[in-house]
Order: sequence, then structure tokens, then C-alpha cells
Amino acid sequence: MYNSRISGLGFYVPENVVTNDDLSKVMDTNDEWIQERTGIKERRHVVKGTDTTTSMGVKAAQKAIERAGIAKEEIDFIVFATLSPDYYFPGPGVLVQRDLGLDTVGALDIRNQCSGFVYGISVADQYIKSGMYKNVLVIGSELHSHGLDMTTRGRGVSVIFGDGAGAAVLTREEDSSKGILSTHLHSEGQHAEELSLIAPGMGKRWVTDIIEDNDPEDTSYFPYMNGQFVFKNAVVRFSEVIMEGLQKNALSPQNIDMLIPHQANLRISQFIQKKFGLGDDQVFNNIMKYGNTTAASIPIALTEAWEEGKIKEGDLVVLAAFGSGFTWGSVIIRW
Ligand code: UT7
Repeated sequence: MYNSRISGLGFYVPENVVTNDDLSKVMDTNDEWIQERTGIKERRHVVKGTDTTTSMGVKAAQKAIERAGIAKEEIDFIVFATLSPDYYFPGPGVLVQRDLGLDTVGALDIRNQCSGFVYGISVADQYIKSGMYKNVLVIGSELHSHGLDMTTRGRGVSVIFGDGAGAAVLTREEDSSKGILSTHLHSEGQHAEELSLIAPGMGKRWVTDIIEDNDPEDTSYFPYMNGQFVFKNAVVRFSEVIMEGLQKNALSPQNIDMLIPHQANLRISQFIQKKFGLGDDQVFNNIMKYGNTTAASIPIALTEAWEEGKIKEGDLVVLAAFGSGFTWGSVIIRW
């Protein structure tokens, strides 16, 4: 059996910076509230007609492939995680295959929201471990801004989310002590509606229903989040799944060189850091600059940490995510 390792990383965020003060001009919010509750100072929003979820993913992927030192033709499979696809169907995986000009390699779309990238890494890792593929491209990309309620009504959600993409190339590794040591995935659908976007969907409310009702109070097509409930579950599940991963590999929190938590809220990351007794140099956060970019947040943060020289060969790197579904997971990596 082989192992897989991350051989290339890349990220892309749109140029357009939206500060907390910018948001306070269109809704009743303020810099102090947003920073105090979330740690966010600014985020990026795609200017309409420029980028899409796919185009951002492609740009991040191009960097990751280049840094992996392989030709794009060597990519055997694409995994794309997003909750904000360009089309209802087909998913963005095939659009990446087309836009990168890859041969007819398989493309899989993942619907696991904030945990999407962790689920994607796990899938890619299994394909490589089994010997089926040698190089798998995993992308997490989100274009939230076009779908948020940018009025005071939606402020509890809209100030948090940002746009961007990150990508990783996973490559076969012969040395079993290196690379992805294990992945751990969970879900609890009992709380599916606590962080969700119900419409348009075939289950309850399709586009024609929305048009027919023509109700200005209709919020069914905006994301809904029961913030405090999600927060309470997040801190518990993050802690559990990090410990699960460490224990599986006979490691303890002190062994962590770099924890890359999903950038949901700086307060959640700080809670985990304190709980595990980690120093500032053992946890990477960039939510201050980009907000919560859901499936893109871990690959963006991982790439930035790596670019800043904060991840070195031999380091124990832990990725952990929690979000809508609820879904959560962790990845334990020997870099
Ligand atoms: O990525 C997926 C996982 N997501 C998460 O893990 C997010 C978890 N949840 C959170 O991060 C936090 O719950 C939030 C940041 C979303 C909200 O913070 P909170 O401390 O839970 O605030 P809250 O929703 O309880 O609202 C407190 C007050 C309310 O006013 P009243 O009822 O006390 O008068 C809100 O109306 O803050 C008000 N509020 C705002 N005020 C200014 C809500 N949003 C805003 C805003 N600006 N943007």
C-alpha cells in the first residue's frame, strides 16, 4: 500500500477587498461587533461578471500543479468541494476538467460545506493508497457574496462569509512514515437545518415556488445559521476529531507543529488553541483577512502557512473542520 502526500498548494482570492466599515454602509453593523465576535477585519467579494467558483478554483489549481512540479496531464482525478457551484448541475469538477484542458479524467463533486476539503483530501488519499491514482487534484472554492442577504436582516450571516479558492495536489508517496497518516470523517444530519440553504431545492421549495410567491419577506434562498448552536457544537466536535486523529497515531496535542483549523470564527480557533495548550506558532489563522470561505478556508490557510515558511519537512500538520450537515473531520499529516 502507498501513502499520499501534499506535493503542491495554491490559492486565489479576488482582488476586491470588503472591510467591516464597507458593510456598515449597507447594513446596521459595525467594525467593533464583527471583530469582537468573529475576529474578521475584511473579506474578498467577487465583482459580478468576473470570477466564478470554478474560475477561482482553476487559478488555485494551476498554482498547486505548478508547485507540485508535474504537468497538468499527470493529474489522474479531480475532486471539487463547494457549496456555491456555478450551476445547479453539472458540478464544477467537470468545468475544471474542461477549463484546465485535461484529458477525460474523472471529476467528483463534494457537498460537505465547511468540511468539504477535508472530505476531499480523504477521498483522494484513499484513491492513492489503493494504487488506483498517482496524482489527485483537490479543490475547495466558494463564491458566497452573490448569494448573501446584504441587508440588516441577514447581518448575522452575511458579515462572516467571503469568497476564494484553495487547491492541493496529492501525490503517491512510497515512504509510509510520510504524508497523510490518517483521515477521520463524521456527520450528524439531525442538525441539517441549523446551518442550511433550503431553496432552491427539490425537497421543499423550487425556483418556481419562489417566483410564484413573489414574497419580499422570503428568506428561504439565503443561508440560515443558528449561530450560537453551531458555535457550541463546533468547539466540541473540533476538539473530539483532533483528539481522535492524534490518538489513532499515538500522538498528543504537544506533538502538533501546525494546526490549520477551518476558519469559521477566530473565537473557535482560540478556544481550541487554549484547550490543547498550543502556542501561537502552532495554530494558523487568517480569517481576519478573508472571513469564512467554507470549503476554501483550509486550503487557503494551509497554502499561506506554507508560503510563510511555517510548515517544514517532518512537521506534524493537523487539519480540522466543522460545519453544515453537521459534518466534521480531521487530517493528520507528517509533512
Ligand atoms: O463555518 C461553519 C461553522 N460556522 C460557525 O462555526 C459559526 C458559529 N457561530 C458564530 O460564529 C457566532 O454565533 C456568530 C458570529 C455567527 C454570531 O455571534 P453571537 O455572539 O452568537 O451573536 P448572536 O447571533 O447571539 O447575536 C447577538 C446580537 C443580537 O442582537 P440582540 O438580539 O442581542 O439585540 C444580534 O441581532 O448581535 C446582533 N447581531 C449583530 N450586530 C451587529 C447579529 N449580527 C450582527 C452584526 N452586526 N453583523
